[in-house]
Amino acid sequence: MYTLDNPKYKEARRRAADLVKKMSLKSKIVQLTMFMVDENTYNPEHVEEDGEMLAGRCGTLLAATGIDRLNKYQKTSLECTPDSIPLISGCDVIHGYATTMPIPLALSCTLEPKIVRDCSAVAGKEATVEGVSWTFAPMVDIARDARWGRVAESFGEDKYVASKMAEASVRGFQEDAGILSCLKHYVAYSACEGGRDYNGCEMSDQTLFNTFLPPFKAGIDAGAATVMSSFNEINGVPCSGSRKMLTDILRGVLGFDGFVVSDYDSVNELQNHGYAKDEKDAVLKGYGAGVDVLMLGNLYNRHLPALVAEGKISEEQIDASVERILAAKYMLGVMDEPFFTSEGKGGWLTEEYREIARNAAKRSFVLLENDGILPLIPSEWAGKKIGLTGPVSNEGDSVLGCWASAKNPAKTVLIKDAMEKAYPDSEIVFTNGVCFKREHSNPEESLEILKDCDVIVACMGEHARESGEATSKTCLDLPRDQIEYLKGLFSLGVPVVLLVSAGRPLIMTDFVNRAAAILYIWDPGTECGNAVCDVLTGDYNPAGKTTISFPHRSGQCPVYYDHKMTGRPTIGIPNRTFESKYIDCPVGPLYPFGYGKSYTTFEYTDAEISSDTMERGGSVTVSCTVTNTGKYAGEEAAQLYVRDVVGSITRPVCELKGYDKFCLEPGESHRVSFTLTEDDLAFWNADMEYVAESGDFICRIAPDSGAEVKKLKFTLE
Ligand code: BGC
Repeated sequence: MYTLDNPKYKEARRRAADLVKKMSLKSKIVQLTMFMVDENTYNPEHVEEDGEMLAGRCGTLLAATGIDRLNKYQKTSLECTPDSIPLISGCDVIHGYATTMPIPLALSCTLEPKIVRDCSAVAGKEATVEGVSWTFAPMVDIARDARWGRVAESFGEDKYVASKMAEASVRGFQEDAGILSCLKHYVAYSACEGGRDYNGCEMSDQTLFNTFLPPFKAGIDAGAATVMSSFNEINGVPCSGSRKMLTDILRGVLGFDGFVVSDYDSVNELQNHGYAKDEKDAVLKGYGAGVDVLMLGNLYNRHLPALVAEGKISEEQIDASVERILAAKYMLGVMDEPFFTSEGKGGWLTEEYREIARNAAKRSFVLLENDGILPLIPSEWAGKKIGLTGPVSNEGDSVLGCWASAKNPAKTVLIKDAMEKAYPDSEIVFTNGVCFKREHSNPEESLEILKDCDVIVACMGEHARESGEATSKTCLDLPRDQIEYLKGLFSLGVPVVLLVSAGRPLIMTDFVNRAAAILYIWDPGTECGNAVCDVLTGDYNPAGKTTISFPHRSGQCPVYYDHKMTGRPTIGIPNRTFESKYIDCPVGPLYPFGYGKSYTTFEYTDAEISSDTMERGGSVTVSCTVTNTGKYAGEEAAQLYVRDVVGSITRPVCELKGYDKFCLEPGESHRVSFTLTEDDLAFWNADMEYVAESGDFICRIAPDSGAEVKKLKFTLE
């Protein structure tokens, strides 16, 4: 959409360029500035300590919402800004607005881009009711390390899935809701050492291009209007000061035509990194690298005029930045109609939006274990006692997850309320046991209350405060009091169905053989209770596949499926001493990427490949039959993994190249088939050429990345 091959955008750029020609340097720099203001600071009488006035000195606002408020700022802006150019407001509309959708990590587990698009569209539409024109989403960082709290905001560890979801989200926000999207955080922010937020990493160009850039590329190709430069450094250069990343690669290689906004204060922080000696140097390096808009602060207004006068920054660069920003404003229509309205923008928390949220949530749940106790079909549990316990069971805030913009916890459907409705003929025995507010916990008393139940649904988890920005962790266990309480529950001898709500994969190792079932619900959002009951009752058969590997132990992190082979691969021969392994824990994940059970079972048979050679420019087709061998209808996502056996640089043990999600009745079969072309095999090689290298490839169609199924081989000539 915001790409130069779109005539509408080209025309917006032309209008913007005409306007830029008439603007003074000062006026242009105003457009490069974003403030966070309130009604006191954004008025012409307010003068900052250093004598600078805020009103009219910015082109965009951070996190300003509300039609009346924004229109007031707009009026001030039109009066005070040189050239009377309207402003727009950008906000973190991440996974929903008033209607909170599941967190992005959860949404990606549906493997359904349409769900992501619909959720982004609803979020965007609800935000426009408040005058928001721009969202800082989607986050498309590749999430390989669950210690990093922001995995919750990501679409998981795999570039193929993240790319599909990036595209869908951009389209949902821009094409369906009419607001600007922002691909963030550019780039490799998630690769921070040790999972420590704001840190950096050393990374080869090959890893950057092969793993971390593809979702950005997909979002850019979908027409993303903006990109956010990240906090982290790569190879000693902070991204918000990296010309290589922000200009050479982003514009030169990825073909980005929109504008770049810094992350919160990240240009100023170039000083903290030890990359800029003072504010002015930070502006020179940040703006010089390609950060068009400074999120927060007056640094550009303050220092760019001098930098231009000294010839260190060219006015042409400033013109190009302003042209891109104004073009976005023309596209939004605000240049022609500066005042915001909620008219015709739809409502909040409508039935339709709630239905989208409920559908997304139930489809995002991942069934990790089930000894057959689930589903708890209401008619079969009539007259029986169903225990319900744990901090998440009657909690409406935490289940909304991190970055829940205009959240309204009072509107969340609680699990407790939904269960009471879903099981009218059973006795729901509710007691919290453990609460997030520890002073309200009553574990001993609760065990006594629950001991006569026929089944216990234990809703545990990590509070939403513990995921998102600045929530890195070294221990991915459930909170200690919940673990102790669970031990008590297991000792009652009553089957325990464990539900876990969290923003990251937590350690489930000790519950695998003790819980009758484990259902991972992530942070499911407003429709939490309804979605949980859809799945518990069997009304919906869960089909989510985890897009992030679950470690056995925290010390394994980072653990991800597309790792390298090593010289001594783990082949599982007992007592083999010298291989890549841990001596105290399996080397692989507890649940691999792509894993998720169903109430039914699927069998994969008759795998075939159309040819054992692929000619240059040709293709091969890989297929197999998937049969529903259980007693429930259910959905399955069959996944195609390919391994490039020998390369000019070592290649991952396997990579996801496609998947097919379908629904089968008991006994029904589906022939799954994928066509691979040379392009699917291409990667950035030792010489940084994007090519498919000749040689052997091994592929398999499997229910998850770790499944042992028949392997097929072909050779690229
Ligand atoms: C976060 C961004 C966010 C920005 C604006 C930063 O701290 O890293 O993801 O968009 O704040 O709220």
